[in-house]
Amino acid sequence: MTAPATPARPVREGGRELFVGRGLTKTFGRGRKAVEAVKGVDLSIAEGDITTIVGESGSGKSTLARMVLGLLPITAGTLSFDGRDVTRLGGAARKAYWRDVQAVFQDPFASFNQFFTVRRLLERSLRLLGGARDGRQRMEEALGHVGFAADDVLDRFPHELSGGQRQRVMIARALMMRPKVLVADEATSMLDASLRVNVLNVLTDLRDELGMTIIFITHDIGQACYIADRVVVLEHGVMVEQGPAEDVIFRPQQEYTQRLLADVPKLHEEP
Ligand SMILES: Nc1ncnc2c1ncn2[C@@H]1O[C@H](COP(=O)(O)OP(=O)(O)OP(=O)(O)O)[C@@H](O)[C@H]1O
Ligand SMILES: [Mg+2]
Repeated sequence: MTAPATPARPVREGGRELFVGRGLTKTFGRGRKAVEAVKGVDLSIAEGDITTIVGESGSGKSTLARMVLGLLPITAGTLSFDGRDVTRLGGAARKAYWRDVQAVFQDPFASFNQFFTVRRLLERSLRLLGGARDGRQRMEEALGHVGFAADDVLDRFPHELSGGQRQRVMIARALMMRPKVLVADEATSMLDASLRVNVLNVLTDLRDELGMTIIFITHDIGQACYIADRVVVLEHGVMVEQGPAEDVIFRPQQEYTQRLLADVPKLHEEP
């Protein structure tokens, strides 16, 4: 994919700080074989921004995402959301957090039962909301946000949709929960270039129209160039660089970031 001549847009000032991870660490295993997949990451994510986490395969991106999503326990450090320590939330507050922070993953087929229509998939998710009374409205609204007319897509099976359309359905499924944060882990990696741009544009529209806070994870810094307000660079579980997208992309301070950018043709030349 070609990168835009200028970075997407400047980082908005004064946004409320939504997430602060301080000293976040995740260790797998014990003893000599222990893997520190994420080591002391200090990160804050501003509301309404697209924060992109980049790094090579195995750099700890998904581990970090899974910690934020509450799918993996945190070995050390703190994670707060709206000023509250997420690890200490109990009962209803924890459930609310799980609704507030929704995820979209790499392979939409994996989350799709091939015998389920889109309607059935979405209705199953609605049941998690205790069969919200405004279910139908939530469904239509969410599909609308990703560019579908509900009637065109609800009765389709996954094989009747393109990869990009399937991924948009998965985004809609997340949006039905009316989340505050969307975590997209390699959500566009399996798509070919034109469908990828289409899904990236859906994400930027969600930011612009709904003020959605998005954590976008990719091994491809070219995508970060296209979509990011802020860029966070991970290397072997360590955050080596972070900042506004235009700084990290056009004035990378770390050799590792420079190497990632070197693979993206003509990007590091300031227009
Ligand atoms: N359950 C696990 N048990 C042991 N090690 C793990 C586990 N999950 C991840 N790791 C290790 O932690 C490190 C980070 O993995 P992670 O999946 O977070 O990387 P990633 O940046 O998402 O990579 P990719 O771009 O390939 O998705 C890797 O060395 C991986 O082997
Ligand atoms: Mg990963």
